[in-house]
Amino acid sequence: MRIADIQSHIDHELVSKQQIEDLIQRTATRISGDYQGKNLMMVAVLKGAFNTLAALSQAVTIPVQIEFMSISSYPGRKTTVSEGDIEIRMDLGCDVRGRHILIVEDIIDSGYTLHWLVNMLRSRGAASVEVFALLDKKVRHEVEVEVKYPGYVIPDEFVVGFGLDYDERYRNLDSIAVLKSDEYLDQEQNQNQGKHS
Ligand code: IMP
Ligand code: MG
Repeated sequence: MRIADIQSHIDHELVSKQQIEDLIQRTATRISGDYQGKNLMMVAVLKGAFNTLAALSQAVTIPVQIEFMSISSYPGRKTTVSEGDIEIRMDLGCDVRGRHILIVEDIIDSGYTLHWLVNMLRSRGAASVEVFALLDKKVRHEVEVEVKYPGYVIPDEFVVGFGLDYDERYRNLDSIAVLKSDEYLDQEQNQNQGKHS
């Protein structure tokens, strides 16, 4: 799905398909060099990172193991604000002891998710844990996260596309965009009406 397909929902595009491809290609070239001869495990955080992982893993020139985790940074609530309470929904199905891990993330907001995940994988005995995040809302960081492979720094706006959702929608948009504010309002109103009826 492209911006043109949902033009009436979109306020503006923030990162184009081409910019995403360029960044992923540059990052993949670095990663391929850095992990040459090592047995790299890419860990993607579902669901938001599924597109980034697919693109990055195809762009690297070394064989990699691919694993998924599902964690929730705001369990049980539909909101555009994320908090520090993290819940594992689906754990890794493999041992990480002695492994070189690259966490693939869609976006860093407060930083709590990555801060928690890096520490958790280190405590399980990984040989190294590095991070690639496609987008970074730098002004919103509340905890420090060391990001070896940085993505695009974006302003403090809620974005959708390339894996990122609003209320489980728009993940299949092929670029990164900001929705019109009435998209959020409409849905929040519908949810409230649903509760009362
Ligand atoms: P953090 O723990 O605050 O860094 O939050 C990171 C997670 O919040 C991301 O992996 C996303 O799932 C979600 N998130 C943060 N900002 C956005 C956004 O603008 N659009 C969609 N999801 C977001
Ligand atoms: Mg995420």
